[in-house]
Amino acid sequence: MSDATVIPVPAHYLAAGTRNTADEYATRYAESIANPDAFWAKEAQVVDWMKPFTQVKDVSFNPEDLRIKWFADGELNVAANCLDRQLAKRGDKTAIIWEGDDPRESRHITYRELHAEVCKFANVLTAKGVKKGDRVTIYMPMIPEAAVAMLACTRIGAPHSVVFGGFSPDSLAGRIEDCGSTVVITADEGLRGSKAVPLKANVDNAIRTPAGSGVTTVIVVRRTGGSVNWDNKRDFWYHDLMTGASADHAAVAMNAEDPLFILYTSGSTGKPKGVLHTTGGYLVYVTSTFANMFDLREDDVFWCTADVGWVTGHSYLLYGPLANGATTVMFEGVPQYPDWSRIGKVVDKHHVSILYTAPTAIRALMREGDGPTLESSRKSLRLLGSVGEPINPEAWNWYHRVVGDSRCPIIDTWWQTETGGVLITPLPGAVDMKPGSASRPYFGIKPAILDNDGSLMKGVCEGNLVITDSWPGQMRSIYGDHKRFAETYFNVFPGVYTTGDGARRDADDYYWITGRVDDVLNVSGHRMGTAEVESALVSHVAVAEAAVVGFPHDIKGQGIFAYVTLQEGHEPSEELRKALVIHVRAEIGPIAAPDQIQWAPGLPKTRSGKIMRRILRKIAANEFDGLGDTSTLADPSVVDSLVQGRRAEA
Ligand code: PRX
Repeated sequence: MSDATVIPVPAHYLAAGTRNTADEYATRYAESIANPDAFWAKEAQVVDWMKPFTQVKDVSFNPEDLRIKWFADGELNVAANCLDRQLAKRGDKTAIIWEGDDPRESRHITYRELHAEVCKFANVLTAKGVKKGDRVTIYMPMIPEAAVAMLACTRIGAPHSVVFGGFSPDSLAGRIEDCGSTVVITADEGLRGSKAVPLKANVDNAIRTPAGSGVTTVIVVRRTGGSVNWDNKRDFWYHDLMTGASADHAAVAMNAEDPLFILYTSGSTGKPKGVLHTTGGYLVYVTSTFANMFDLREDDVFWCTADVGWVTGHSYLLYGPLANGATTVMFEGVPQYPDWSRIGKVVDKHHVSILYTAPTAIRALMREGDGPTLESSRKSLRLLGSVGEPINPEAWNWYHRVVGDSRCPIIDTWWQTETGGVLITPLPGAVDMKPGSASRPYFGIKPAILDNDGSLMKGVCEGNLVITDSWPGQMRSIYGDHKRFAETYFNVFPGVYTTGDGARRDADDYYWITGRVDDVLNVSGHRMGTAEVESALVSHVAVAEAAVVGFPHDIKGQGIFAYVTLQEGHEPSEELRKALVIHVRAEIGPIAAPDQIQWAPGLPKTRSGKIMRRILRKIAANEFDGLGDTSTLADPSVVDSLVQGRRAEA
């Protein structure tokens, strides 16, 4: 197995001075593993505490006695760390650069301005009866008010649940019901690539379902001025409520282990899980990782292209940058609007020095050739980051050569909604790069690779990636279902945190993430459970049964491939195929739409009725050899007919 090309950190980059040299990384990493309490007690001073903690860590990964607590008797407030404490030194510094969907629209918001808005909105929420501990759902486009809403929630201690604006009314309703929120913050419409997204109408539709019926208050930001339906008792314009609201607000002291936010993410079974993060550990972890992995400098302009509806948007668009007093870019639009030169042009316009984006965007840009990117100079860039899915070496090299002008180091950052922040990444200046490898663990992170029987693998190997000890940013529970938390993450291999990812370790102790080992897909860096797409498909009248698998996709990394068995009396047709795609979009959202649907007279099942996904994955990938032993199937002839069907389509 090749260890691939090694690309050293460029000399000019090192010459400018870095937060971590190779030696410092080695020393600090060793210290963090040898004595995690001492390491994190010190590192926790990256945030301001209202009441200092006396205990650092109280952790048991035993599924019978699961306990994850960090800094448990300390008190702090996230908004106070992101805003109030920046005012003295950075009051007039730009906190957020907002770049609108329309390239002619942008705004700079200083720390002082953002602080005032957040204080006002905290007072608004309090006046609407929102108290510490109440869950607030946020369903917003990428506008500064999304940041204001999130920060205001943290200021009063109300955990937010941000739902990505691309999710359907049903998905939104399910998330509202699961966390029991009665308040939703939204906008009239979002704007992406000049197209309006009917957010308020989606909220109305969500509230009309039984799951969404508990909502009593909807606060609406006017973004496009598009027409919306209005319920005078329930709906309030954001600007009306903000007029006259006081900008005086004392941030509430939160216990370190008080809930900070819930973020829904897909698992291999059942409904999306409400990943629960708490206040102290999360903030320490994102503040620390943000500064070190982006090798932060005071004059940096940082652009993370993720939506605030995903964990990357939480940790590295909002909380990590602001807690460090950095300038963060928030982009409302899409990379291809008005055309593919947009990313480079935004970099030039705002002098972006660090660009953090997903492989799917890099591959889509690469497909357009170098031309659109070369319309910009990108000379302000000094560092690039990749997140959300494995980056293939070809895309890595193109990102490095064209976007970064062969000048900027790239950090390939591996992490998950569950981990709160990045666990594996090459720290710039400290770790040489290998295209396609997330490389080395962050301070305090103890990765290990287990075989399928749970035995520890040593040296060069490939298997299941687990983390053997806690870190402050780790999720604390699944909202309302602590049992599922223990079962999902700590029971598969008892005593360690199971990531659900596979990884390979090379001779230099670099980690290479190979992708999910469970029934979770990663489509354009978005997580999607096969079970969710299957249940959306079978809710269509024509569908008797469905099995969904991933298949290799040039741009998306993974595409969604659905095998569908029809009910008696329904015939395959192109119209039905289109109708099923539309149905899944409406049930879950556009990101869940199948890329391919194959009609399946039957599905390969074992005699006990279990669907053999391994076979379905191979057929979807056009790999017809080595389908393995099919003699144990209830009806082996099913496989032949699926192979014939696939060949006929291809
Ligand atoms: O499979 C891994 C992949 O994305 C999964 C986590 O998805 P999510 O919770 O939505 O968080 C995405 C943003 C962190 C992981 O289990 N993944 C994430 N980053 C990488 C990655 N796979 C390979 N390389 C990465 N850098």
